[in-house]
Amino acid sequence: MNVAILGVGTVGEQVAKILIQNQKLISARAGKDIKPVIGVVRNLDKKRDVNLPLTNDINSVINRDDIDIYIELMGGVDEPYRVVSEILHRKKAVVTANKALLAYHRFKLQNLTGDTPFGFEASVAGGIPIIKALREGLSANQILSINGIMNGTSNYILTSMMNSGVKFEDALKKAQELGYAEADPTFDIGGFDTAHKLLILASIAYGVHGDPEDILIEGIEGITKDDIFFAQDFEYVIKLLAIAKKVGDKVELRVHPALVAKDKMIAKVDGVMNAVSVAGDAVGETMFYGPGAGGSATASAVISDLIDIARGTNFPMMGYKSPLEIKSLELLAQDEIRTKYYFRLKVDDKVGVLARITNLMSENNLSIDSFLQKPHIKNEENDKKATLFFTTHTSREADVKRVIRILEEQEFIREKPFMIRIEQ
Ligand SMILES: NC(=O)c1ccc[n+]([C@@H]2O[C@H](COP(=O)([O-])OP(=O)(O)OC[C@H]3O[C@@H](n4cnc5c(N)ncnc54)[C@H](OP(=O)(O)O)[C@@H]3O)[C@@H](O)[C@H]2O)c1
Repeated sequence: MNVAILGVGTVGEQVAKILIQNQKLISARAGKDIKPVIGVVRNLDKKRDVNLPLTNDINSVINRDDIDIYIELMGGVDEPYRVVSEILHRKKAVVTANKALLAYHRFKLQNLTGDTPFGFEASVAGGIPIIKALREGLSANQILSINGIMNGTSNYILTSMMNSGVKFEDALKKAQELGYAEADPTFDIGGFDTAHKLLILASIAYGVHGDPEDILIEGIEGITKDDIFFAQDFEYVIKLLAIAKKVGDKVELRVHPALVAKDKMIAKVDGVMNAVSVAGDAVGETMFYGPGAGGSATASAVISDLIDIARGTNFPMMGYKSPLEIKSLELLAQDEIRTKYYFRLKVDDKVGVLARITNLMSENNLSIDSFLQKPHIKNEENDKKATLFFTTHTSREADVKRVIRILEEQEFIREKPFMIRIEQ
């Protein structure tokens, strides 16, 4: 089978290399030769470590009759959507690693693809076969929940803060030096990359529609050494979690930093590694662990899709042969989320402040579970401030947001109140 690689960058280069390096094994497994015949790039002058004819004329490649499978590895949303749509109109198979494309256009692409194979294993958690797990291995189950650590950059930063006591800014700088973080890291540390992946998994698990703008997304930028101090004292770790949960006839989707009990399996996933835990009604809890990014790990997933297509195995793109009959699986409103919460408050260190905070919380339906005051260190101006930490029993997001709004207006508050959700 002839393959065109649209985008010969970090992942595309590795796809071409592995197809050549493991050619005999891949042919034996696929039952056919899979041959990369052309690569598309923007800049033909760039030096590349790949033995493949290259062009910068993408339209001529899309219209070739001798290509059987197109691999889209360009990145972005609009141009890949245009390109992939044209390829699907020509009934040619597509494989992509592009989570942004799928986060916005997966259902339109599902309608376009029909019976034409469309592989996207590499779009979520790189080398971990989580799409296969949800779409195939766990297809008998009602999915009760998905909890994932699906951004290596954020997990590396949080692990460094927890284990080495470094500040967020220093951990980010180190991640950039090691090539784990982009020069502009917003997409990773802001939770957006994780949200794209969560939407893809949730669509397979629940058939749920939605764009990234429809779900709760918070990043890790606000986490300080004070939060790490609290987490360590109370036997938690802080992780950027992607959470999908069935709540009655709705689905809750959220991405945010979370305090997770140290003894949980997912709490032990450190550094750039990814993990996804899936709970099904029949199977119970399962856990998938592995490298979530990197050229080679991602190429491994891309090629597994190529092999499936060459074998003639074709799964329904989002895992459903006919429309999902459970019509009320809609997104839960963000205000209706219920979980436990942690607050960090920097306040004037004076009599009556603590009582005012606790009264305010109870008047707004928040019941305090634990409280800690960080030992006060006076600064040069003999400025009397205190850092207070509270955790709540299970509460409603709407109540928590209202309390934060009210707290912000109080004269004793010295810094914007900070909250982290606690996951059981
Ligand atoms: N890197 C990872 O670890 C990873 C992991 C999982 C998923 N992914 C996904 O895989 C995809 C590729 O990522 P990557 O890291 O390999 O990106 P990359 O290193 O930036 O490579 C992108 C390639 O696409 C080419 N390209 C971009 N726009 C183009 C256009 N309009 N026309 C023709 N060629 C174009 C670029 O050409 P030039 O080289 O000439 O600029 C480059 O060769 C993305 O969707 C990404 O989200 C990546």
